[in-house]
Amino acid sequence: MNGIAQSRVRTVATTPFDDQRPGTSGLRKKVAVFRQPHYLENFVQSVFDTLALPPGSALVLGGDGRYYNREALQVILKIAAANGIGRMLVGRNGILSTPAASCVIRKRGTSGGIILSASHNPGGPQGDFGIKVNAANGGPAPSTLTEAIYARSRTLQTYRVLDAPDVVPDQFGASVMGEMTVEVIDPVADYAALMESLFDFAVLRTHFASGFRLCYDAMHAVTGPYAKEILERRLGAPAGSVIHGEPRADFGGEPPDPNLVHAHELVDVMNRSDAPDFGAACDGDGDRNMILGRRFFVTPSDSLAVLAANATLVPGYAVGLKGVARSMPTSRAVDRVAQQLGIPCYETPTGWKYFGNLLDAGRITLCGEESFGTGSDHVREKDGLWAVLFWLNILAARRQPVETIVREHWRTYGRHFYTRHDYEGLDPVAAESLLNKLRERLGRLPGQRIGNRRVREGNEFQYTDPVDGGLASGQGLRILFEDGARIVLRLSGTGTEGATLRLYVEAFEPDPARHHLDTQEALAELIAAALALSEIPGRTGRRAPSVIT
Ligand code: G1P
Ligand code: ZN
Repeated sequence: MNGIAQSRVRTVATTPFDDQRPGTSGLRKKVAVFRQPHYLENFVQSVFDTLALPPGSALVLGGDGRYYNREALQVILKIAAANGIGRMLVGRNGILSTPAASCVIRKRGTSGGIILSASHNPGGPQGDFGIKVNAANGGPAPSTLTEAIYARSRTLQTYRVLDAPDVVPDQFGASVMGEMTVEVIDPVADYAALMESLFDFAVLRTHFASGFRLCYDAMHAVTGPYAKEILERRLGAPAGSVIHGEPRADFGGEPPDPNLVHAHELVDVMNRSDAPDFGAACDGDGDRNMILGRRFFVTPSDSLAVLAANATLVPGYAVGLKGVARSMPTSRAVDRVAQQLGIPCYETPTGWKYFGNLLDAGRITLCGEESFGTGSDHVREKDGLWAVLFWLNILAARRQPVETIVREHWRTYGRHFYTRHDYEGLDPVAAESLLNKLRERLGRLPGQRIGNRRVREGNEFQYTDPVDGGLASGQGLRILFEDGARIVLRLSGTGTEGATLRLYVEAFEPDPARHHLDTQEALAELIAAALALSEIPGRTGRRAPSVIT
């Protein structure tokens, strides 16, 4: 055990930072912020102090491969070794997609894990970096834990670090760092095995062999190796079905965000006259997904509803669903499916962590958000490639195009027109006061008419966790109409520049003769009303949103 002889623990004096409060997705900052002396070290020491794990505990460590991952990985290993961690399972080359990390934590029974990612945010020296702590259930740390980490970070005076040579995680197998074992694992193997246990790989292989074609855009991010192994090697999709499959530290210079704007090459492919049958993309760390048919976009809210309605076609879900959940701003398309199936449907605040308790308690099987996140009880994170495989399994079972399946779904359940308008980089004070003003007005809205709709209620969403009774308040302002239409406004919790205001608009259309309408047109009256009521143009100086989805 050479490592022990060559290494010693050093205690380093430091001064606390006051901006290390982890948000819904961990601590996310510009790379330049993380590069300040002692910044990462302070946060990581605060994590270990707060977790207070028994000596010898095991953790999982990996990330989306973005810029600064490699340096951060060494810092974390050395602080972990100095804090009594016994074993660190590291994805080869520091790679683990977020859902794969969740899978490994659960399968190997570790005390949790550390994920290095800023999700779909831009990478590179000018981009973002992030660090997230997951618990032993494989899911994001609960707010009690993240708040305790934040409190610790503000008083920390020293951190402990092992003086030792780097362990470069490029070979499978174990090596030592001080008294800690660093075990380098295949980042894909456990995850691929889990997918094979849920989906009908034999049927999928036959489907590809019979000429079914797909284009999968890994956006130069972490899912490249996963998609090549699963889609091309195991399922036999033709080589080249995975595009942008080589992970890069800067994601090729574009945000690895699977939407119609950033996945534009995929969108071009799917708009061609010889487009493949199915298109999909995942984000930087592999937890988000976008689903496309030929010249057809499936909204994430509709995708969740279609998966729920067709779940019994998939082996892993053949026994049926215990229940479903969606975040509050997500459209209510899945609610109608749940109603038809006679299963509960939970409405939670934005952010994956609220699904965790419902999943752990066995109350739900599927869940999702309008922000391109879909998942199930197989892990405790949203899972992009899992959603892609779920769709593929449905397509192979039904042998119909994506568009036909979605249109049929609308005919059966009615269509929920849905859009989200984001106003990015706002002055945080102006954004807060806009919401304060609207909050004051909510009580006076009931009974007001907008076109031929009448406001039923105006309120601020709050959530009492049905499992542990925890209360989450201030989760978004809502204007609810008598016919089921909704306007929702909330501030983003994940941005790194100024404030981002999100406006969500939804209307239910039962009449199939109106299902062909363009979404923005179908919602134009409600959007105009939302702008007028919230005074967005006047209070932000913005005449149009930064992004429309
Ligand atoms: C955004 C999404 C939310 C998602 C989160 C983490 O959060 O809206 O649904 O859970 O990213 O991926 P927001 O920036 O809106 O707080
Ligand atoms: Zn992500």
